[in-house]
Amino acid sequence: MNAPAYVTHTRLKTWVQDMVHLCQPDHVHWCDGSDAEYQSLCQQLVNAGTFTPLNPAKRPNSFLARSDPSDVARVEDRTYICSARKEEAGPTNNWMDPQEMRRTLQPLFQGCMKGRTMYVVPFSMGPLGSPIAHIGIELSDSAYVAVNQRIMTRMGKAVFDVLGEDGDFVPCVHSVGAPLAPGQADVAWPCNPTKYIVHYPQTREIWSYGSGYGGNALLGKKCFALRIASNMGRDQGWLAEHMLILGLTHPQGKKYHVAAAFPSACGKTNFSMLVPPSGFEGWKVTTIGDDIAWIKPSSDGQLRAINPEAGYFGVAPGTNFHTNPNCMASLDKNVIFTNVALTDDGDVWWEGMEKDSGQLPSHLIDWQGKDWTPDIARESGAKAAHPNARFTVAATNNPALDPAWDDPAGVRIDAFIFGGRRSTTVPLVTQARNWTEGVYMAATMGSETTAAAAGQQGVVRRDPFAMLPFMGYNMSDYFQHWLNMGEQLKTRSGTLPAIFCVNWFRKGEDGKFVWPGYGENMRVLKWMIDRMEGHAQGRENVFGISPTYDEITWNGLAFSAAQFDSVMHIDPAAWREELALHDALFTQLAYHLPPELPATKDAMALRLGH
Ligand code: OXD
Ligand code: MN
Repeated sequence: MNAPAYVTHTRLKTWVQDMVHLCQPDHVHWCDGSDAEYQSLCQQLVNAGTFTPLNPAKRPNSFLARSDPSDVARVEDRTYICSARKEEAGPTNNWMDPQEMRRTLQPLFQGCMKGRTMYVVPFSMGPLGSPIAHIGIELSDSAYVAVNQRIMTRMGKAVFDVLGEDGDFVPCVHSVGAPLAPGQADVAWPCNPTKYIVHYPQTREIWSYGSGYGGNALLGKKCFALRIASNMGRDQGWLAEHMLILGLTHPQGKKYHVAAAFPSACGKTNFSMLVPPSGFEGWKVTTIGDDIAWIKPSSDGQLRAINPEAGYFGVAPGTNFHTNPNCMASLDKNVIFTNVALTDDGDVWWEGMEKDSGQLPSHLIDWQGKDWTPDIARESGAKAAHPNARFTVAATNNPALDPAWDDPAGVRIDAFIFGGRRSTTVPLVTQARNWTEGVYMAATMGSETTAAAAGQQGVVRRDPFAMLPFMGYNMSDYFQHWLNMGEQLKTRSGTLPAIFCVNWFRKGEDGKFVWPGYGENMRVLKWMIDRMEGHAQGRENVFGISPTYDEITWNGLAFSAAQFDSVMHIDPAAWREELALHDALFTQLAYHLPPELPATKDAMALRLGH
């Protein structure tokens, strides 16, 4: 139970002791992050039936986990921001008084790890010792969490060197909520129907109960790197964002870095690993991060960004050699797959892979361990892989990894991109004329529901900054924080990153996407660079500045002026309706809403001739 001698942090040791006292595990394992430890925990998961080893000839050192069918995704309705006052959490978050929440959780955590091992998982979000990074310690009764955290974070004993005797860390307590009575047999995926994902912003603590899956359980990701870190960022003057970071290098060698926010399931991993299409020979896109960016201003007022994560926890279905060849290459070894299907030769499969092979497999074991054939799928609609099936893989597996991905100084951000999923109204790309317009674009981002209940299809869910499920405080205060950051950076450096809004998802009258997306998005990135370098004038519209047809580099793609018009066109009637919806959002967020946002909307309405 005792901490290893290299742990000299008294407050941390006392906290672990207190948590052992509360959760009453049978054993405590301090993770050192070594490869031997990883292998031995994986073997333990194989023995427990949680992991199935994959065929080493096809996927060396890789495993398949199948979760309980009730534990397959983040549980937004069970996620709480327990700030002192409800207004501090804001209207977009679930809130409970912190004292009341502590009283609620106490009996759940009491003895919750009986019969299990508590893993003490030390992790750094960001390169060890980077001034942009921060440290967390996760206590979890799940070996699955420990091995995933080793891939997703810089995990292991080197973290204690950075922490020293008194360094700051975010305490994260996680339990699957399934204590074992003496002699009771375990199940392959323990979890509890009662779930709580709780954040205390004032004391910067995370408590997660009942789920072993993804963002509910790997507490460095959404819980720490977004919800708690957004609070740290507001207090300390930096940004914790739901953004990928990519590097973009000219054939002549000049390099830019772009941070881009998209709602969940809008292709962020694909965009961060984009392969430039034919016609862009010599251009290079490299990945710094695929999901989260921590961005701090340097003393000269530039924004420096790191990816706080060290791996990708990406959605497998839909990934194939057309949508994301770099990702497919990343998945060739050392991967943990969760809830994908198993092939008869011990490999993995998910929907979308048939596009590469040209055919469906004749037989699979689906994500629930049942037989799957194309006939069964046709009759019942059963998916072989769960739609939220995931891979966990180290960033270092990515052939397009940026050489600076692990640089403690981070990379300089030259532009922000905000992208929604809209079948109408929002043009393919628009540049904001100034920072406030950019914040407006981000604040009013929307995403259409894709597979919602009958009648719900196409409903726009506003997802400001793609942060709706990940905001750790009041959304309007966050808008204000962005406006303040703009002011400060401008005063310090005289310039600000450019801000663009994109929408890859406009549909034609036939209901099909008009823009080919994926690698072709390079054409849009190139226009952004042309704008930043002063080579493209663009054309003003009510929303901002968009390209003319001639400003886009088309070589290698047949895309007519009429098609271009259908993804760029601004329809005044649709925009009047759109602005009414922005109004509704601003009414919902009225408490502390920066007046600059409704003022920007009024200016747009005027330009529309309202
Ligand atoms: C994710 C998400 O898993 O945004 O990254 O839901
Ligand atoms: Mn995400």
